[in-house]
Amino acid sequence: MDKLSIIRPDDWHLHLRDTPYLEAVVPHTARQFARAIIMPNLQPPVRHCDDASAYRKRILAALPDSSNFQPLMTLYLTDNTSVKEIERASQSDFIFGAKLYPAGATTNSDAGVTSLKHIYPALEAMQKHGLVLQIHGEATGPEVDIFDREKQFIDTRLKSIHEDFPELRIVFEHITTADAVDFVESQNEYIAATITAHHLLINRNAMFTGGIRPHHYCLPVAKREVHRQALLKASTSDSVKFFAGTDSAPHARNTKEAACGCAGIYSAYSAVELYAEAFELADDFSHFEDFMSVNGPNFYQLPVNDDIIQLQKINWKIPDSLDYPNDELVPFKAGEILKWKLINND
Ligand code: DOR
Ligand code: ZN
Repeated sequence: MDKLSIIRPDDWHLHLRDTPYLEAVVPHTARQFARAIIMPNLQPPVRHCDDASAYRKRILAALPDSSNFQPLMTLYLTDNTSVKEIERASQSDFIFGAKLYPAGATTNSDAGVTSLKHIYPALEAMQKHGLVLQIHGEATGPEVDIFDREKQFIDTRLKSIHEDFPELRIVFEHITTADAVDFVESQNEYIAATITAHHLLINRNAMFTGGIRPHHYCLPVAKREVHRQALLKASTSDSVKFFAGTDSAPHARNTKEAACGCAGIYSAYSAVELYAEAFELADDFSHFEDFMSVNGPNFYQLPVNDDIIQLQKINWKIPDSLDYPNDELVPFKAGEILKWKLINND
């Protein structure tokens, strides 16, 4: 088999930043995906429907002329998110979810939620109106070991959110552990998870191979090999609860290669090809289309896309760097060879 044709995929978790960085990254995603769930962790965050509407317009303005790419907007939940704002978001035709960042969990999460009790009225309204909750599932606090943050979040937060709002649709974002896979699989159909290409391709050793590797640092951090294997098994399985969400997160080279480097991996340049690389490792493409293009829209209750993309089995090299205002961007697996290449829409 040296060609793959699949329904055009969507990216169910993406960071695009804002002008002028937006213009540098949007074309990469739009070349591959029809739609993407756009993360709201700008500075200041996208808290209100009006902010989301204005941000959406800036994204659309950054698209190449021929592109039909659709940004699916989200709101950033804070301790003060009102029920009214959730109602407005649910009635809009461009907002598809609201994101829970535990305060301090990751990049631009300072305005996030300090205690779940503050957002219970908002969650109640989201359940009532069918707005999806996207969760950055990491417990915070200096006492929590960074490699245990996801499991702790499941045990101390996620279980209770799901119990208290059993019909609230939840996407547990960018899962990194076998514990998360098991949890999602064992719950009802209202909870699903995104999995990134990088968490399918690297384990935690990648951050330390021959020295410190800042371009492999993201949050949640990559975990042990056993967890990578569990993610790969879940992605290639027949479960409808797992789907692609790149968590591609651009940071300029100088902010990654620094004494305190930013968290985030830029995978958008070759996202579909990176996922194909992972499925190639598992030597099983039987559910590739479901994972990339079907399970996500079904969970979000949106139609699947109506065109096709094609990949060819051919070696090609990811560039060492990409253009980025005032600096450059180092893509995930910079300078490395991939085995699959998107062929019909360059
Ligand atoms: O590595 C990450 N980078 N994880 C996140 O949750 C946020 C993201 C970013 O915005 O840079
Ligand atoms: Zn993210």
